Amino acid sequence: MKKIVASNFKATHTRKSTKEFIDDVNGYLKESEISNDVFIFPAATALDSFEVNENLTIGAQNAYPTKSGSFTGEIGTIHLDEFGIKTILIGHSERRHILGESQKEIVIKYNYFKAMGYKIIYCFGEPLEVKNCGMTETLGYIWEQFDGIDLNYDNLILAYEPVWAIGTGISATSEDIAIIHKKIKKKINKPLLYGGSVKVCTLQDILEVPNVDGVLVGTASWDVDDFKKMIYIASKMDKDSKKLTCNTEE
Ligand code: PGA
Repeated sequence: MKKIVASNFKATHTRKSTKEFIDDVNGYLKESEISNDVFIFPAATALDSFEVNENLTIGAQNAYPTKSGSFTGEIGTIHLDEFGIKTILIGHSERRHILGESQKEIVIKYNYFKAMGYKIIYCFGEPLEVKNCGMTETLGYIWEQFDGIDLNYDNLILAYEPVWAIGTGISATSEDIAIIHKKIKKKINKPLLYGGSVKVCTLQDILEVPNVDGVLVGTASWDVDDFKKMIYIASKMDKDSKKLTCNTEE
């Protein structure tokens, strides 16, 4: 399976810079003929009907589980339909831990977008205090984040993103990722991404970890040249395992 590369813009990039970023990535995919699946999740105000290559998907970082209605500050599926968007992130740690989304609310959202046939990238991961309690507690915490989630859903991609690694510059070690990904893959046969402080320089090592099918990247993906380097590195993983340098020159 070709490695997946996804960029989560969070609350960065304007409408103008998002368009420039997407056009740039799209042009790169076209000229390089790289066929790995690439996802970009812009801010809601920057969504639009982008004409992109088959393997480039634009998704929503979030939406309310509704078509439309009185939900101040939210968007519903009419807003996503306007741009043909059928992909969404659900369960991201910033929504769980900063915006206070409960597992119950996440399940409602998951079921709604599942019923609408969306591709769902479902995120989960443990906070530092849980990690520090050991592997049994960490896995127990992760399984609770699967409570109520239909893991047999066809259009599902999973993303393991330890909370303590997100936006901190401290990525999980290859050993940590290997253990968790193996345990998850044993139970759930879905594409499984890793996310949390992935950088251009660490990407190849992470993609080489068994059971890592790709990455979901925030901070280090916001520079378009770096994101293109990541796509390049991921595309080479399928062809040769030769160590690539950080500037991707062979
Ligand atoms: P980060 O974010 O790469 O900035 O750690 C990852 C994510 O939140 O998906």
